[in-house]
Amino acid sequence: MIRIETPMPQEYRDASPEDLDRRIGAAKAELGDRLLILGHHYQMDEVMKWADARGDSFGLSRIAADRSDASLIVFCGVHFMAESADILTGNHQQVVLPDLSAGCSMADMADIDQVEAAWEQLARVTDVDRILPITYMNSTAAIKAFVGRHGGAVCTSSNAKAVLRWALDPDQDGRSRADKILFFPDQHLGRNTAVELGYALDEMSLWDPAVTQGGLSDAQIKDSTFLLWKGHCSVHQRFTTSQIDDFRSSNPEGVVIVHPECSHEVVLAADASGSTDAIIKFVQATPPGTAIGIGTEVHLVKRLADEYPDRSIVSLDSEVCPCITMSRIDAPHLAWVLEQAVEGRVRNQISVDDETARWARIALERMLQIT
Ligand code: 13P
Ligand code: SF4
Repeated sequence: MIRIETPMPQEYRDASPEDLDRRIGAAKAELGDRLLILGHHYQMDEVMKWADARGDSFGLSRIAADRSDASLIVFCGVHFMAESADILTGNHQQVVLPDLSAGCSMADMADIDQVEAAWEQLARVTDVDRILPITYMNSTAAIKAFVGRHGGAVCTSSNAKAVLRWALDPDQDGRSRADKILFFPDQHLGRNTAVELGYALDEMSLWDPAVTQGGLSDAQIKDSTFLLWKGHCSVHQRFTTSQIDDFRSSNPEGVVIVHPECSHEVVLAADASGSTDAIIKFVQATPPGTAIGIGTEVHLVKRLADEYPDRSIVSLDSEVCPCITMSRIDAPHLAWVLEQAVEGRVRNQISVDDETARWARIALERMLQIT
């Protein structure tokens, strides 16, 4: 991955919201159909209102893969999403992340050297040909490439069940692709999905990359169907079952939905769990008057509260929990990259090297085929 960063001039930070809106609108009109702005559901309204398409990480990757007509894709989301878009698009397309510091702390919890080391340690204990690595979309291109090289697939929170079934379910001859899954970086999505598929908690072990052999004995490795990487989302890990209890005591008829990056106890205590897109659909399906407690990033919760004023929509966390890195994409950065593009300069391009992209694409395309 190559990062070329030019600092954004101060004048964009100093510009008024009205001026930024006018400049973004003018640059967008000038770039016309060659431009596609993608907005993840956690983006702030000042950015989201300019998105040509909104979505969860799966939906946006599909749109990026399908829109070969757009030569410039401005990805308003975080780094791993823009990387995936670059991998899935053609050489004639350029993907821009308006602020290169918009990363994902969870994606950074699985480092490729740690993953390679884990694989070697596993090979000393068990037959790695019977392990499939599955990575959550929230991971670096290097991790996706590792997964592609070892026969595995990417998954997102909207298709993790289908991907794990693809990996573990026996075919008509009774043979499955794997006996074991190494799932990274989010232990919670791995655990929640495995439980949904009917696996017991004692069929899963936590692999701690900071400790030799993940902190597991040979027997634990051999006996586990799921080795769950010890990673988490700092935003979703804040949600607790007592917040759900508090919401229910003030809203006895209310309903609760959380993102599957929340802990297993929280997902169990909620009425439903799902990706950002699934959360939106859940809210749409409730009748007016419903009280809904949501466990996910606050910009999405606030947008839903604004769009559905006839429901009572609140975040389960009264202390409010934004994803700081998502919020780095703001109107000044969007205005800057668009005005630069009008002048023929592509700033903050995300470009994955060919070899990494080749294998990461295999892992991403497996996911797109499965779902
Ligand atoms: P979705 O795939 O549900 O959009 O989630 C992405 C994410 O980063 C959630 O924290
Ligand atoms: Fe990453 Fe969590 Fe932010 Fe999602 S909410 S982008 S998992 S840090």
